[in-house]
Amino acid sequence: MKPILTDLDAVNTVIRGKLHSDVPLVNQIAEYIISAGGKRLRPVLVLLMAQAFGYKGEKHHELAAVIEFIHTATLLHDDVVDESSLRRGRKTANALFGNAASVLVGDFLYSRAFQMMVGVNNPRVMQIVADATNVIAEGEVLQLLNMHNPDISEARYLDVIRSKTAKLFEAAAQIGVLIAGGNDDAIDAAGEYGRSLGTAFQLIDDVLDYSGNAADIGKNVGDDLREGKATLPLIYLMQHGTSEQRTLVRSCIEHGDEQHFDAILTAITSSGALEYTRKEAQKSADTATAAIFSLPNSEYKGSLLQLAAFAVDRNH
Ligand code: IPE
Ligand code: IPE
Ligand code: MG
Ligand code: MG
Repeated sequence: MKPILTDLDAVNTVIRGKLHSDVPLVNQIAEYIISAGGKRLRPVLVLLMAQAFGYKGEKHHELAAVIEFIHTATLLHDDVVDESSLRRGRKTANALFGNAASVLVGDFLYSRAFQMMVGVNNPRVMQIVADATNVIAEGEVLQLLNMHNPDISEARYLDVIRSKTAKLFEAAAQIGVLIAGGNDDAIDAAGEYGRSLGTAFQLIDDVLDYSGNAADIGKNVGDDLREGKATLPLIYLMQHGTSEQRTLVRSCIEHGDEQHFDAILTAITSSGALEYTRKEAQKSADTATAAIFSLPNSEYKGSLLQLAAFAVDRNH
C-alpha cells in the first residue's frame, strides 16, 4: 500500500481525533478496539479509488475514517452476536467489557460516523453509505435467521455475505471515485470491484475459520462451527461428502457442536471443500480485477490489483 502510506497516516490521525467522548467508557472501549489495528482494508479502498481518479482535496481522509468506524461498529456488534472471544489478537470487547457496553459503543461509532459524514456534506455519499449500513444490518439479521439451518443453499449463503461484508467494500470503492469526480460508469465499475473483492474476502474469511491459525488471523478458528453457521466449506461438504459426513455436518450445524471440529476439518479438507471455496473466491477476485481493467495505469491501480490477489491468497 506504498502509494497511500501518507494518506493512511492522515486517516489514522482523523480516527484518533474523532474517537473522543466525554464518557470515559466510550473512549476506553473505542480506543481499545481501534488501537488494536486491523488491516484497514476498507479505508485503503476509499483512498486508492480517490487517488486513482486524481482526487486533490482532503475529504478522502474523513470518509476513509467514516468507513473504518462503520466497520468497527459492525465488529463490536458481530462479536456479541457470534459470542467471539478473540479479535485483532486481543480479547474481544464483549469478553472484556461485556455485551451491553460493546453494543452501546458500537452505536456510538455508527453515530459518530454519520456525524462526520454529515460534515462532508455530499448527498450522494450519504445515500451510498446510509444504504450500505442498512444492508449490512439486514445481512447480519439474515445470517441470524439462517443459524443452525443445514439446508441453506449456496445462493442464500452468497446473499448473506454480499450484504454483511461485500456491501461496505462496494460503498468504500464507490465513494472514493465519487468524491474524485468520476462519472457514473466509473462509480459503477468501482462498485463492482468492491463488491467482488468483498465477496472474495469473506469467502476466504470462512476458509480461514477452519484452516487458519489464531496467531495469524487474530481470531479463534472454529467460531463458525461452534455457532452452527453453515458457510460454504460446510455447504460443499454436505453436497459432496459421504453420507456419514453429511450426517455429521448436519448435526454440528443443528447443535453448534465444536467438539467435532477436528473430524469436520479432516472431512472438509479431504473432500476438497476448502479448495472449492478458494476457487470461488478466486473467481470473484477475477471479476474485481476485470471491473477496473479500463482504469488508466497508475501505482494506485497496481495496488488495487494487488488487493484483489491478497483477498484470496492471504493467511490473515
Ligand atoms: C473482519 O474484517 C470481518 C469480515 C468481514 C470478515 P477484517 O478481516 O477486515 O477485519 P480487520 O479490520 O482487519 O480486523
Ligand atoms: C463478518 O462475518 C461480520 C461482519 C461483516 C460484521 P464474520 O462473523 O465471519 O466475521 P468475523 O470472522 O467474526 O471477523
Ligand atoms: Mg463473527
Ligand atoms: Mg469469520
